[in-house]
This record gives sequence, structure tokens and C-alpha cells, in this order.
Amino acid sequence: MEERIKKILSEAKNSIGKATEKDLDDLQIKLLGRKSEINEILRALGTMSLSEKKKIGALANKARQEIELEIESKRGQAQGSETSGSIDLTAPGQNFAVGHLHPVTQVMMEILDVFKSLGYEIAEGPEVEDDWYNFEALNMPPEHPARDLQDTFYLEGGNVLRTHTSPVQIRYAEKNKPPIKIVSPGRCYRNENEDASHSWSFHQIEGLVIDHDISFSDLKGTLEVLAKALLGEETKTRFRPSFFPYTEPSAEIDASCPHCKGIGCRSCGYSGWLELLGSGMVHPEVLKNMGINPEKYAGFAFGLGPERIAAIKYEIPDVRYFWHPNIKFLEQF
Ligand code: DAH
Repeated sequence: MEERIKKILSEAKNSIGKATEKDLDDLQIKLLGRKSEINEILRALGTMSLSEKKKIGALANKARQEIELEIESKRGQAQGSETSGSIDLTAPGQNFAVGHLHPVTQVMMEILDVFKSLGYEIAEGPEVEDDWYNFEALNMPPEHPARDLQDTFYLEGGNVLRTHTSPVQIRYAEKNKPPIKIVSPGRCYRNENEDASHSWSFHQIEGLVIDHDISFSDLKGTLEVLAKALLGEETKTRFRPSFFPYTEPSAEIDASCPHCKGIGCRSCGYSGWLELLGSGMVHPEVLKNMGINPEKYAGFAFGLGPERIAAIKYEIPDVRYFWHPNIKFLEQF
């Protein structure tokens, strides 16, 4: 019996050695399956004497394990040689999933780059503001009707979540003497219901320039440069009279639609124009609140919404796309 087990083992090793990968499954059944020789021996243990059972049982089980190991290692070799032996250097590589900046962040950086190239400094301010900076210093005393236009989130203790980035103008000008030339990016909040063009949280970039001899033509020239840089060299601008409590005169600026070149299309509501931003000459009262003498200095200011600019550039019909997580949407940018 011992001889028979030895023979089974050596024959098994032999045939495993010669087998190819596709033979292995059949061979495994033949060598270890229910009808295999080794199983026949194991089944016959019941008919043997106790001492024989111990000896033969141990030998047969060991042989079985060895055969199993041989088959496994043969399988490993076969799979290994398949990959290492034939690397296809022309096969396309696997893509790594790499993230990227949010489209609104990309547009903000683009806008800031334009101003950096014009020599502007970047200034930031807090998102939790007090009444003075968010309203009063900007010529909006309590009871001023313009406060109603900005649905404000009030915090306990009278502070607010800033409704615009304009308060950074005051904070910066308090601490720095003219000439001042800053842009201030950041998040703003308004207690508004979301719809296609509104959100309770959004971004703004504020601009402020103060120096001797600053005039409306400086404002005009600067914002024309911005419109062309963002929407293309052929972009035209249009200045419409407007009202903001902190600027006098105030103007809203439209850009010719970059998609239809001003002819009229769905993106611009068939008007040929898109509303770009608000601006104006800094109100003398605001200069006083900054501690700057309006007899000696003048300035212009502007505020624009990166979400709006991104929506114009990429023809996004609904700003909710930007902040409601949707990887399929974001992957496009
Ligand atoms: N603060 C205005 C807003 O939230 C934007 C703005 C308009 C800022 C005119 C300015 C400005 O500095 O001069 O809509």
C-alpha cells in the first residue's frame, strides 16, 4: 500500500509537470476528485486495522496535500508567465482618476489673474461681519431701503453673514493709505430661496481703486479690459446708469454675448447682451467712513459674481448645477 501511494504521488507530479494551464482543471478532477486513486485509498481506510489506518491514513493525506500544492503552484506559474512573458507595450495605459478645481474656482482664478496682471493686490475679509462694515459704512444706515434688497442672515448678537464682499473695501481702506488697488474674492450669503439664478451662498469679487485723479474713464477702461480678457477680444461693453448706495454715479455693465456675438440667442435671451457686474465711483460719504478725504482722493469700485461669469462663459442655465454635487456635470470642466 505504501508503494502504491508513492507511485500515485510520483505519477501525479509527473503529469502535473507536463500539463498546460487548460489541462489543469481536468487533471485536478482526475487526481483529487471523488473517483481518484487517492480518494479510493482514503475511503478504504475503514476496512483496515487501527495501526494500518493510522499509517496509511497519514501517508495518503500527505500525498493528497502534496498533489494539491503542486497543482496550485503550477496554476500560479501559468498565470505569472502569461503576464510577465508577454507585456504589450503598445496597450493603452489605465487612466487614473484625477480631480480638478471646481469650475467656479477656475473662473475666480482667471478673474484674479486679470487683475494681478493690472497690478492689483488681493485682500480678504471675514464672512461674519458687523452691521457697520456690511451696511452702515457703505452708506446704508438702519432703515435704509437698500437693506431690504439684501435678504440678510442675522446672527445672534447682531452680526450678519456678509451679504456682499463690499465690506472688505472699508476694512482695507481703514488700514491702508491710498493709492489703493485691490480685488477681494470670497463667499457671500443671502437668505434667499434657491432658483435658477439665486442661491443662499455664492461668491463675489470686489474691486476698489483709490488715488488722486481717478475718474469714471479709469473704471470704464479697466472693466473693458476685464470683459475682453474673460469673454474674448471682440467683446463689446455697454454702461447703463444704475444705483448702489456706496457709489455715485453707479453703472451696471453689460457685455456683448460671446456665443452669438451680439446677434441674439438663447443664452442672452435674444438681446445680444449679458449683465456682467455692478460698479461706480466711490461715494464721498464712503470715502469719509474709510478715513479718506474726498476733496483729495477719488475712487471707483465694482462687484462681480464668479458664478454668473462661469454661467455666461459655459452657458449653464441654472446656478444650482454648481453647488449641488454632480460629478458628471463637474467632470466636464
Ligand atoms: N455689492 C454689490 C452687490 O452685492 C455689487 C457692487 C456693485 C459692488 C457696485 C460694488 C459696486 O463695489 O461699486 O450686488
